[in-house]
Formats: sequence, structure tokens, C-alpha cells
Amino acid sequence: MDQPLLSDELRAEIQALIGRYPEGRGRSAILPALYAIQREHGHASVEAQNELAAILGLEPSEVGAVVSFYHMIHQEPKGDYLLQVCTNVPCMLRGSSACMHHLEETLGVGHGDTTDDGVFTLEHMECLGSCATAPMVAATRKASGEIRYFEELETPEDIDAVLGMLRKDEGFDTLERWTPGRDSERTGRGAGPYTVAGMENPYLTRRVGRPDSHTIEEYEADAGEAGYATARRIIASGSPTPDELVEQVKASGLKGRGGAGFPTGVKWGFLAPNAFPRYLVVNADESEPGTFKDRCIMEYDPHQLIESIIITAYAVQAERAYIYIRGEYYFAWQRLEAAIAEARAKGYLGKDMFGTDFGLDIVVHRGAGAYICGEESALLSSLEGYRGFPRSRPPFPAVAGLYAKPTIINNVESVCNVLHIARIGSDAYRTMGTEASPGMRIFCLSGNVKRPGLYELPQGTPLSTLIHEHGGGPEKDGKGIRAVIPGGLSMQLFSPDQLDTGLDQESIAAAGSNLGSAGIIVMDEDARMVEVGLRTVSFFREESCGKCTPCREGTVWMEDILMRIQAGRGRELDLKLLDFIADNIAGKSFCPFGFAAVWGLQSNMAKFGDEWREHIAAPNPGNQTPHPPVRRHPPPPPTRGTEPPTLPVRPIYRPDADIGSGISDIRLEPVGDAPLVRDTVVDLD
Ligand SMILES: Cc1cc2nc3c(=O)[nH]c(=O)nc-3n(C[C@H](O)[C@H](O)[C@H](O)COP(=O)(O)O)c2cc1C
Ligand code: SF4
Ligand code: FES
Repeated sequence: MDQPLLSDELRAEIQALIGRYPEGRGRSAILPALYAIQREHGHASVEAQNELAAILGLEPSEVGAVVSFYHMIHQEPKGDYLLQVCTNVPCMLRGSSACMHHLEETLGVGHGDTTDDGVFTLEHMECLGSCATAPMVAATRKASGEIRYFEELETPEDIDAVLGMLRKDEGFDTLERWTPGRDSERTGRGAGPYTVAGMENPYLTRRVGRPDSHTIEEYEADAGEAGYATARRIIASGSPTPDELVEQVKASGLKGRGGAGFPTGVKWGFLAPNAFPRYLVVNADESEPGTFKDRCIMEYDPHQLIESIIITAYAVQAERAYIYIRGEYYFAWQRLEAAIAEARAKGYLGKDMFGTDFGLDIVVHRGAGAYICGEESALLSSLEGYRGFPRSRPPFPAVAGLYAKPTIINNVESVCNVLHIARIGSDAYRTMGTEASPGMRIFCLSGNVKRPGLYELPQGTPLSTLIHEHGGGPEKDGKGIRAVIPGGLSMQLFSPDQLDTGLDQESIAAAGSNLGSAGIIVMDEDARMVEVGLRTVSFFREESCGKCTPCREGTVWMEDILMRIQAGRGRELDLKLLDFIADNIAGKSFCPFGFAAVWGLQSNMAKFGDEWREHIAAPNPGNQTPHPPVRRHPPPPPTRGTEPPTLPVRPIYRPDADIGSGISDIRLEPVGDAPLVRDTVVDLD
């Protein structure tokens, strides 16, 4: 037999990873094991995948299916440093295209390429959860798998400084984010948290920014107000009982902070009665562009989250909690693991906690670069070791969730709110916010404002207060606001006349959008709405999981049309066509991602239709293209002149051909000499 590729040490590590999941659920360890393989071997080769399959008792194709789903697991080697430039909308608004261009020119490579010396692979990337500090680059060090964020890279010198550090392998002494502004010597020292401000006496972000805020000593020193005092009081005394705590959270009116805004206590009440074991899953996937609040809590106050998880697990009677954290949040992952170890050492986790027979284990599980895994049913598929495909509901997770057991899934910030409700009581909690949406919330402010950052404020605070008083107003003096996205990239845009809307679920919904994950993205008058539309749809095309046809195919069509419009070959009919496709994705797809994929574009075209029409009519709007979007296919042969168009890979319904779709009775006109051809990527030169 050939010498095995995976060493004995690595096999032992994989066995230990399997041991973190319940008996018979070793498949859950597939992503952690692939990360371990990648760390040791630089990538997860087919041979290594096959050996992992044998360890897990799976078919090689089952491991292959997982590898091919997740962006962060590489079957082929990358350079020593993988540089990923975020080009999603909030970063785009603050110059990430220029950052990407500089890297392309300096390194002599384009998206997806590796330099000849094998040192750097360059990619552009969707939101990295650092939207307030654009432009930013994440660097992954192949030798260790570590990921570090380099932020606010506003000048060529800043970017060159990063490359210089990495060439000397000096950028990884710390994983704390690096900003040139806070390290004038450019030594690579860490830069600490973002701008974090808001209420005079914040709850959720109170310790962020204090020295060593992540350590248990600092957390305990804050006791009386925080520490583990609340968890200890409740669990040691058994008062309130779990049922009473559920009622208290219901009475508080807390609604989930992950995006859907479902009442937390009500969700807990859906748990299948007397069915055990139960699981608590904390959603730390945070991949909605414009959202970066959970990351800050995990990096700078992980003990707040751990104490909150203990109280939540007690309320829902779970013995085990999983934190599903997005793979790019390497630093937050490290901080959580360290904090869990500290809490365990003090007896705050494990068996017989606080002198009672209550016990809890927390396992941190890293995702691997798939936005859809933030959707709760896809998250469960991923946590069980499968591709992150959403599942049909019912059954809802509270009845049959993780491993088909009753499971509560809550967002990081939602869980942290539970701690404060338990500490101050639901009446005091309700004194903040609005009647229908009580409490405080961390608003993530990004885009064209003077002070992007995290602002903890009572719900219902007017959007204009957040933007002008806290965020300092538009980034450039003399430039007004053109549009605002009030709840993360997937939500409908607001126009400037809607800035007085209160930042609570009900007010935002009444104004035609959704508060979502509270990611507020501000665009000034320089923002080009066609480009914003294209970048928005590109994100959803990239992140569609591919399970259902309307979303998988429709997002590709929309992006193709948008790329053509952006490049100056649009037709007025395209607006109708885009609306038609969007209508056939929203509500006709398998999961809520279908709505998310089109709301931004539809509202953009509805509100800024004049600009779209002007762009289409302009003789040479292609001059405005700042950076070509990612090519999904190798560049096609020229399709103008005598060459016939490239044929689609498989037969598909072509929405602008003169063949009726049969899906609806809408029939679009045939379109003359510029047919949309599915696999023909517009030439961008
Ligand atoms: C496409 C999609 C992506 C989502 N991403 C996240 C996410 O990154 N984090 C999160 O907490 N919730 C996310 N959600 C919402 C979750 O499905 C779920 O509602 C939430 O985790 C429940 O927690 P909460 O009630 O505390 O908000 C997403 C939903 C959809 C449809
Ligand atoms: S709507 Fe999109 S993300 Fe959701 S299941 Fe269908 S393809 Fe996947
Ligand atoms: S980090 Fe770039 S958009 Fe979020």
C-alpha cells in the first residue's frame, strides 16, 4: 500500500475534531478536518480528500461535493499569501477598485492568478465583514492558515506596506486588524477595534475598546454590572426557572437581530416539549454585506457572548451549544476559543456548573465562505457536514433541527440581548426603543459617511440622527446623500426623502424596506446607481447555492444583462427584462435568498430609473466602468463580425428570445441585433 498522505499527527487531530460532535455525527467534522489538512498541506488535494473520506466512513464523492461548495477550501494550491480585496458595495463606495487595480499592477496578476514566484494569489472577494474600514484586504497565510485583515488601505503606499510586510513574513505577529493610520511606523502592530460609539451608557458594546477587553480578568473585573454574575445568580439559585426566563424574554419584546426579526421568546416557545437532547446554535455567520457587528463582540468581548449563551442554553434547556462562525473571522474564532478555554478553566462551562447539575459545552464551528450558510436551515446542513443547502420548513428547527433534534438558532447579538434582559429585567429593557421593537441595537454604518463604524442606539432612532450626528454626515463636504440601504445589501434602497424614518423594524417596513441585519450603507451623489445594481446582483449570483433553478439561473441572467448595460450596450427594454426576471426569482425560489437577490436591484431601478435610462442612452457610458466584474467563464471568442455567438452550455430558456417561456403570459419583444446569449460574457475592453 502507498504511504498515506495524512500523517499520524494529522489523523489524531482529525479524530479529536470528530470527538467534538455527538456520537455517530463525525461527518460534522468534515470542514474542520479539511481546514486542518489545508493548514498542513497548503490545499486539500483529491488524494487527501479520499483519505479523509475513509476516516469519516464516507464516499470520496461526498467529501468532494463539500469541497467544491465552499470558497475557502482549495483543491488546488494557492500562493503563499492569498490576498482578497473586498469589492462589495460598501467597499466599492470607498475606493476598493483602486486598491484592486494597484495590486494588479504591482503584482502583475489579475483576479484568481498567482505571481510567478508563487508568493501571492490575488482575488477580489465579497464582503469580509469589515465594511467600515474600506478599502481592505484579507491575507491568508498558507503555512498556518491564519487570516489577517489589513484595513483602510487608502494610498498606494499603504498597500505597498502590506506587501512589504508579507514578503518578509512579518504581517502575522498579531492577527488584530492593521490600519496604517494607527501604525505610522508601519511595523504591522495591531490596531484594535473599529469606531464604536452611540448611547452614553451602551450595553452590548460597553467594554469594546478597553484594554484587554477580551480576557476573563477584564470581564470579571466588571462584575456587578457584568462578569459571570448574572449566569451564576440564575443557575445557582434556579430562579428564574427556565420557563420563567422564556416568559421574561417574551415580555421583553426582543426580536431577533439576525435579519428576520422574529420574536426570540416566541421562537423558544416552539420547542418540542419534553424532547431531548436540545441544541442551541448561535449564528455568527455574519456575511450580509454592510454588517460587521457580531465580529466586534466576538473579538473584543467574547465573554459577554459566552455568558449570554450559558443563560440562553439554560432557558431552552440545551446541553450543548454550537457557534457557527464564518470562516473569514479567523481572529474572532481564535478569541472565542481562548475565551471558552478560560471560562472552562474557571468552571463556568462543562459539567455541574455553579454547583448545580446543569452542564454546558460550547463548540465553535467554522464555516468556509458561503453566504447562504447564514440562512438557518442551510447553516444546519453545513454544520452536519453537508453542502450548505437550505432545507424545506416545516419542520422548523425548534421541532427538528440539528441532527433532527429540537434546536434554537439565534444570532450573536440576539443572544447577547438575553443577558441584559436577564440582568436588568424586561421592564427596564422596554424603556429603550419603541413599543413594538424595544431595546437597543448595534447599527453598522458604512459607505460615504465621515465616521463609519458601529453605533449602539435605542431602536427607533431616526436614520438621519445615525448618519448626521453619529456618522458625521456625508463623507465629502458639499456632497449630498443619494441613497441609503437600511438593512444590509439585500434590502430595498431608500431615497434622501426617507432619512427621517425611525430605525426599527416597523418604521422601516412601513417605508418600504427592511431593517434586516441593521447594516446601513450610505451612498453620496457620486455613487453610480447602475454600478451599485450590478455589484449587488453580482454578489447574489456568486452566493446563490444553486439548489433551485430560478435563483441559480436568474441571478446569472440578471448579471449578464447588467454587465452589458454597465459596459454601454444596454437597451431601454433591459429594464423591463430585468424586472421580469426578478419577478420570477422572488417568491418562486426555494428559500428567502430569492427575495434578497432582487430587492436591491428592483428598488434601485424603481427609485433611480432616470439615471438608468440616461446611462443606457449615453453614447459612451462604458467609460464609467471602474473595474471589470469577475469573469465566470474563460473569455469567449469575439462574437461580433463573422463569428457566431458562443452557444450556451446547456439548453436554457432565453428570456428575450421570441419564444414564449410558458412560465407566465408576459411576452417580450424580440430584440434586434443585440441578443442576450447566456454564456457570452460582454467584452469589457
Ligand atoms: C440568505 C440569508 C442569510 C442570512 N444570514 C444570516 C447571518 O449571517 N446571520 C444571522 O444571524 N442570520 C442570518 N440570516 C437569518 C437566519 O436565517 C435566522 O433567521 C437567524 O439566524 C435567527 O436568529 P435571530 O432570530 O436571533 O435573528 C440569514 C437569512 C437568510 C435568508
Ligand atoms: S433561492 Fe437561491 S440560495 Fe435559496 S435554495 Fe434556491 S438557489 Fe439556493
Ligand atoms: S468588508 Fe467590504 S463590503 Fe463589507
